[in-house]
Amino acid sequence: MAMRTHYCGVLSPAMVGEEVALCGWVDSRRDHGGVIFVDLRDREGVVQVVFDPDCGAAFELADRVRAEYVLRVVGRVRRRPPETVNPAMATGEVEVYADHLEILNAAEPLPFQLDEHVRVGEEVRLRHRYLDLRRPRMQHNLRQRARLAHLTRQYLAERGFIEVETPTLTRATPEGARDYLVPSRTHPGRFFALPQSPQLFKQLLMVAGLDRYYQIVKCYRDEDLRADRQPEFTQIDLEMSFVDEGDVMELVEGLLRHLFRELLAVELAPFPRLSYAEAMARFGSDKPDLRNPLELVEIADLVRDVDFKVFAGPARDPRGRVAALRVPGGNERLSRRQIDALTEFVAEYGAKGLAYIKVNDASDLEEGLQSPIVKFLPLPVRRAILERTGAESGDLLFFGADRARVVNDALGALRDRLGRELGLLREGWAPLWVVDFPLFEEGDDGRLEPLHHPFTQPAGGLEALRAEPAKVLSRAYDVVLNGVEIGGGSIRIHSPALQRAVFELIGIGPEEAQEKFGFLLEAFKYGAPPHGGLALGLDRLAMLMVGAGSIREVIAFPKTQSATCPLTEAPGPVSPEQLRELHIRLSGAP
Ligand code: AMO
Ligand code: AMP
Repeated sequence: MAMRTHYCGVLSPAMVGEEVALCGWVDSRRDHGGVIFVDLRDREGVVQVVFDPDCGAAFELADRVRAEYVLRVVGRVRRRPPETVNPAMATGEVEVYADHLEILNAAEPLPFQLDEHVRVGEEVRLRHRYLDLRRPRMQHNLRQRARLAHLTRQYLAERGFIEVETPTLTRATPEGARDYLVPSRTHPGRFFALPQSPQLFKQLLMVAGLDRYYQIVKCYRDEDLRADRQPEFTQIDLEMSFVDEGDVMELVEGLLRHLFRELLAVELAPFPRLSYAEAMARFGSDKPDLRNPLELVEIADLVRDVDFKVFAGPARDPRGRVAALRVPGGNERLSRRQIDALTEFVAEYGAKGLAYIKVNDASDLEEGLQSPIVKFLPLPVRRAILERTGAESGDLLFFGADRARVVNDALGALRDRLGRELGLLREGWAPLWVVDFPLFEEGDDGRLEPLHHPFTQPAGGLEALRAEPAKVLSRAYDVVLNGVEIGGGSIRIHSPALQRAVFELIGIGPEEAQEKFGFLLEAFKYGAPPHGGLALGLDRLAMLMVGAGSIREVIAFPKTQSATCPLTEAPGPVSPEQLRELHIRLSGAP
């Protein structure tokens, strides 16, 4: 007989009477005085195995097994007596009556219980990730992730995309984060950079005439970590020649629809398209969660002339913004204490305060509005604010007044938090495209930085760029799902002159451009086709699709918030010989 004939989790009434050989882990063991029940688990599920004194040696041995022992059991599938059928278990109508048992390996008591309901600290989970991954939830997550990758490959291959591997020991590819560097032993003082993305290589593959490229690829970014960021993460990266933004968006939207249909049996509606300007105006964010009904409303024009500097100042400043956020029924739902907590919350985003009006009676502008600021607002202004925001009795209005960026960050985050905490989010999926991004972002020092990356084509080309660089829009597009940026891409620059001009504007002079990106500029001289593409964050997509709260739940061996691996204890020290070989001397004890 084979070591194993079936997975535990697949046994069914149709197999009653069959002899089976099962291998797996002891999920639990119960001794019912004379009868021993072992729930045996493998990746497909759990089945009950029964030992009684008639099983002979197997019964004796079963007495010794403990949780997480590895067993091989040979026995016969039988129907459970009706009163012992367990409808909560996929195999609950049957059990295996053992006639042979082998203990393949013993297990010490585990550092934590695998039970889904037991809360375990993440550090402990990651330290023993191989145990954590035994949990059915984690197994499910990894399998969904694998299916997602498989379906993606199939979908793209069927549409003529060629999978190409690009180097990971390479030069810096700027995507806005710090690089992970790898010292070169053979070239003292020189370093490889791990790619932040395959951006430059995929563009070179278009110059090479591949026409349609994709890769499921690891990217490396040394940046501050959050629930949806890891230092190494996976992109579904693709690039196409002779296309415009509509072609790329259609392809990617089709892929996402396909994935949702196949993995979750969900039919996504066509993705709405929102301009960056509209997204910022209505939601204070370029990755709005459209399940949230709350919206920001501009009121700068209403408060330009009020006697309240906090509002009038930003209202008159071309870079300022004064906006309101109406919380329907918020009067009853938010106490003074909660409003204070929210005031502290928006302060983390730079807001200097959080003005509010409790609308007790919308018909009484004199006495019906309760607020520390209402005394500064003449009646016509009060009326106009209520009208503009649609506020009704019982509502609460919050206000942000500052530089537009601060107001957007603060009220955008407030909108997210209130949506979640007040249970306002509608069920389901809210994908969208965000388009018409500005090409550059102006830093506080007035310097321009690319909003996407410096290879993105400006709308209107070189002419528009020369006229008013800070105002130029880009041919970039992001795809957003339930408030998470799951992908971004653009139509690229394919002319050396335009590429040089963009470099110049972001402070990369001709020499530096030549030194860092000379190979790209040179490639553009030899017949570069118009091209564009996009990359999806596979981890983020998988996280959303399995309903997890962090991408760490869909990565087999993730890093902690501080970019370490508790399991292997990477990053680790290296020997003095290794450092010497690499021509590296440490500047002192860290
Ligand atoms: P971008 O930088 O927008 O674009 O990255 C594409 C997508 O990758 C995901 N992502 C991450 N996921 C987890 N951890 C991270 N640290 C992390 N950083 C990014 C996001 C993001 O939308 N080369 C371009 C793509 C292109 O222009 O074609 C790029 O990398 O979901
Ligand atoms: P103050 O005049 O500083 O006492 O502020 C009066 C009210 O306005 C308080 O409720 C503050 O929280 C609020 N406030 C102050 N600065 C801002 C701002 N920049 N945006 C929104 N509200 C503010």
